[in-house]
Amino acid sequence: MLTAFIMAGGSGERFWPLSTKEKPKQLLKLVSDKSMIRETVDRILPIIPAERIFIGTNAIQANGIKKELPMIPEENIIIEPSFKDTAAAIGYGALNIDIRYPNSEMIVLASDHLIKNEENFRKRILSGAEEAKKGNIITLGIKPTKPETGYGYIETEAECYIGEASKVIRFWEKPNLERAEKYVESGNYLWNSGMFIFSTKTILESIEKFMPNHWETLEEIKLIMGNKEIDPKEKKVRIEEEFEEFEKISIDFGVMEYAKNIKVIPVDFGWSDVGSYTALDEVFDKNEKGNIVKDARVIDIDSKDNIVVGEKESEKVIAVIGVKDLVVVDTKDSLLICSKKNAQHIKKVIKELKNV
Ligand code: GDD
Ligand code: MG
Repeated sequence: MLTAFIMAGGSGERFWPLSTKEKPKQLLKLVSDKSMIRETVDRILPIIPAERIFIGTNAIQANGIKKELPMIPEENIIIEPSFKDTAAAIGYGALNIDIRYPNSEMIVLASDHLIKNEENFRKRILSGAEEAKKGNIITLGIKPTKPETGYGYIETEAECYIGEASKVIRFWEKPNLERAEKYVESGNYLWNSGMFIFSTKTILESIEKFMPNHWETLEEIKLIMGNKEIDPKEKKVRIEEEFEEFEKISIDFGVMEYAKNIKVIPVDFGWSDVGSYTALDEVFDKNEKGNIVKDARVIDIDSKDNIVVGEKESEKVIAVIGVKDLVVVDTKDSLLICSKKNAQHIKKVIKELKNV
């Protein structure tokens, strides 16, 4: 049985001030007039019915997500009691899915990626699901275009072709710049798109093997979930307590770097993880001066290659004069002015916010 698990617990701090704790990146209408998470669900609905689509999130975001996804049954919204990163999220998700649909395949998706060719995407994940039935962990690999250090790198065998599952030699999560440069140069590495396909059995076994502490906690949680003698309120508290035990670590560092049964399907469906404002350069058409204007009334005089973002409801006019390579984001509460080359540092602002 094919199921999907959408990871929607991240905060997307690089999209401040558009994104906030309550309205993180996946709830923003960043690339179209639909939120990123709604795009993600709509993209898989033609091949997976809503009752088999699960969302992993936390209490702060759950209401926003439910509102955005009225077609998803409420019991499929899996609320993690605390933020423990993707290893715990996927482990807990697999546990829940396995109870509802024993021994099924799970398509694990990020909630905030852009995919241009959706037909092609669906074709690739369906063939990945077939491979996953054989006990493999399937990754979808993207041909790297720059030595990005925010991604995982998948070392492949010399010959590998678009759409064909190929054995992975090793998975390296977020290498430093020097290594990333070598990987891109060598031509034998693909970026990890952050989407995975495996059976609930395979991923739970992998967690047991490579993350014994996580496994122990998951077993405790499973016992609590299945214990009919504990009332629901008490159950919730006990699961919360167990959840605290999880070390904060991603599935990439926890499992992918060690697993031997990984395969990669090289894909070319037009993927972007829209990691920061500068990624909008690849999404939207620029005007004749190279500026991107989104949801804003802008006057640009002698200004080139800027990204100017406002809020749809706002009537405010934004004027940029004689500036180049800036990101300007204006919201009701905050204004961001940042050089494009520093767009990765926006998350530093979040740390400072409580001091102003
Ligand atoms: N439910 C839940 N709980 N979701 C989470 C949590 C959590 O604790 N933490 C993160 N997420 C969600 C995010 O919302 C996002 O959709 C997805 O999981 C991936 O998390 P990121 O924090 O964005 O990961 P990353 O970008 O650093 O790295 C991953 O993605 C890259 C591609 O975008 C890795 O898989 C890399 O290897 C990969 O290259
Ligand atoms: Mg990410």
